[in-house]
Amino acid sequence: MSARKGKQPVKRIALMTSGGDAPGMNAAIRAVVRRAIHHGSEVVGVRRGYLGLIEGEFEPLPATAVSGIINRGGTILLTARCPEFKTEEGQGDAVAQLRQHQIDGVIVVGGDGSLHGAHELWQKWQVPTVGIPGSIDNDLAGTDFSIGFDTAVNTALDAIDKIRDTAVSHDRIFVVEVMGRDVGFIALEVGLAGGAEAILVPEIPFETTRIGSTIKRGRRRGKTSYIIVVAEGAARGIAVAADIEAITGAETRATVLGHLQRGGAPTAADRVLATRLGAAAVDAMVEGRFGVMVGMQANQVVVFPLETIWTQRKTIDTSVYELAHVLAA
Ligand code: ADP
Ligand code: F6P
Repeated sequence: MSARKGKQPVKRIALMTSGGDAPGMNAAIRAVVRRAIHHGSEVVGVRRGYLGLIEGEFEPLPATAVSGIINRGGTILLTARCPEFKTEEGQGDAVAQLRQHQIDGVIVVGGDGSLHGAHELWQKWQVPTVGIPGSIDNDLAGTDFSIGFDTAVNTALDAIDKIRDTAVSHDRIFVVEVMGRDVGFIALEVGLAGGAEAILVPEIPFETTRIGSTIKRGRRRGKTSYIIVVAEGAARGIAVAADIEAITGAETRATVLGHLQRGGAPTAADRVLATRLGAAAVDAMVEGRFGVMVGMQANQVVVFPLETIWTQRKTIDTSVYELAHVLAA
């Protein structure tokens, strides 16, 4: 039972952000609240994702509560990771809270895990849910982009441009580790935009000995500085730097960008994406489309079953990876 049309009117919508925060989540919150008011519905915020759902952290969200947040990173509703929600007991407590607060439906903004949770609420407990993709990782199938990806890429790119100044000035090799627990979307985008000499992603096997040999050949030709972008899911930047230094004998440094990439003001692209998807999620809910997620394909809003996320896995474009490799020669 999924993506089925519901019968009951949705008057009181609970809204939460869950999992890793992503720049643009606040823009989505603003759009959900104001679009719901436009439809004659009201929005109740749930603080700290599924944890707050279980513990009953609800707060009314009138139009004024979302003023002045479209430009802010993080999430005003706060977020959390909540292992307890994966259990039958945790979900039962959450559903009891939703009934007590007379909630008709739940909109969840989050990544793969959070949207699995939304799917379970609908499938197992018949709680009407709609998901909005919010994750810097951009690994959710069904949507070209997730909220936060563009900002994270631009933040990482800014850092890489600065690191290149030092790499060039000191004839050094730099290994820059970017986020991406299981996927290389950030690494690939940033590597291509930053002109990296090598990009390491979890999806494609690599050998540091081969990269080291290429660098040695390049240095003999007179190329003195290199940037290697590595997704955290592929390898640890520090380990790659140690290997490359041992093979090449050239000074090699590692920089781990870490949570720098998750914060900060959302880019225009993320604000627009979050605003359009936030409004679309409310539209889907008032139309009685539950167990679904909203996404963007070819700049058009789409609505599809939540299970698409795991039935159609999203993978990096290997032709883009190959292009980056060719251009780095
Ligand atoms: P993200 O949503 O950013 O991928 P997580 O994977 O940590 O982040 O998931 C966020 C939360 O979603 C988890 O802490 C848990 O409460 C809930 N969740 C994750 N996976 C599932 C699942 N398979 N079933 C139910 N809830 C889940
Ligand atoms: O899923 C988003 C993400 O930033 C991943 O890229 C990263 O591996 C993970 O979250 C880090 O999570 P935490 O902030 O809980 O350490």
